Amino acid sequence: MNEAQKFTKDFAISTPVICGPMYPGSNPELIAAVSEAGGLGVVQPVAMTFVYGHDFREGLQLIKNRTSKPFGVNFTLVKANKTYEKRMREWLEISIEEGVKFFLTSLGNPEWVVKRAHQEGIKVYHDVPNRKFALKVVDAGVDGLICVNNRAGGQTGSLSPEQMVEDLHDLNLPLVCAGGVGNEKDFEKALKMGYAAVQMGTRFLATPECQTPDDYKEAIVNSEEKDIVWTTKIAGVNSSVILTPDIEKMGLKAGPVTSKLLKGRRTKKWVRNYYMLRSMFRFKKVATKQGYAQYWQAGKGVGGIHKIEPVADILQRFHGVCEKL
Ligand SMILES: Cc1cc2nc3c(=O)[nH]c(=O)nc-3n(C[C@H](O)[C@H](O)[C@H](O)COP(=O)(O)O)c2cc1C
Repeated sequence: MNEAQKFTKDFAISTPVICGPMYPGSNPELIAAVSEAGGLGVVQPVAMTFVYGHDFREGLQLIKNRTSKPFGVNFTLVKANKTYEKRMREWLEISIEEGVKFFLTSLGNPEWVVKRAHQEGIKVYHDVPNRKFALKVVDAGVDGLICVNNRAGGQTGSLSPEQMVEDLHDLNLPLVCAGGVGNEKDFEKALKMGYAAVQMGTRFLATPECQTPDDYKEAIVNSEEKDIVWTTKIAGVNSSVILTPDIEKMGLKAGPVTSKLLKGRRTKKWVRNYYMLRSMFRFKKVATKQGYAQYWQAGKGVGGIHKIEPVADILQRFHGVCEKL
């Protein structure tokens, strides 16, 4: 059995493709469509509640009404404030009660999530940008690593997909390639490199099931790799976006004062929290088209995305790749 077959068996799915959590972008209908088509949809709780306006449990139930297949929930483990941390623990317990089978954690230490999840037979994968972070979360007991590379949409990594496999394969955990997979050729390449699965965001934004605005979807279809740029002005770390006039106007680099604060041991946390809060409101505006600016997060996989098409069609083609390998 190869890595991809082990992955699909572990999660009882048919195609080793995760629809990565997206703020915004992860509306419950999209998540359900990906799982129903044989992949693994993942809920982004803040998008579910704050952007799409669902009560968290009702949102999970909406997905369950559309598919009986497995899906996951993402927990961003930032120490923002007590209210957020309390809410995250509540979301985790609700996810367990609603029968979620997969947790995807990002940032922070996933140890408490792993401990609780393993009591319930739930697998936990964590987002990592490099070996240093991977070693920390391996110690925390995670079941797999989401390798966020330098082609990814949203907050991006700095290493290539090839480099990440080379650096992490000896950890003996399933590796998921997150970034730059836009079509089945990219998918095949990732599996041949040794990845067990891929995680895609950008490709799933350009589908009818995703509720992102139509001009954002069109921009993904019409963009080439060269149109994707990194800006630190959105999150304080590199975010991968389409170079639109609004992004040009905003600029790509944080100013000297902010950059200094972002390097300070004490100030870093506060500046990041400020950025996080600001981008929460900015991106909600993008998703809901209020006071709209073209802040469109997307990865380098745009080069392989040529039309807006249903999730099931995309996954069917990807499934064909697995059958061939
Ligand atoms: C619009 C957008 C929003 C995202 N938001 C999140 C998020 O809230 N949390 C997270 O862990 N990853 C987030 N990501 C990363 C995705 O889950 C996924 O890893 C990434 O999109 C893979 O790269 P790709 O876009 O090249 O397919 C986001 C990506 C995009 C494109």
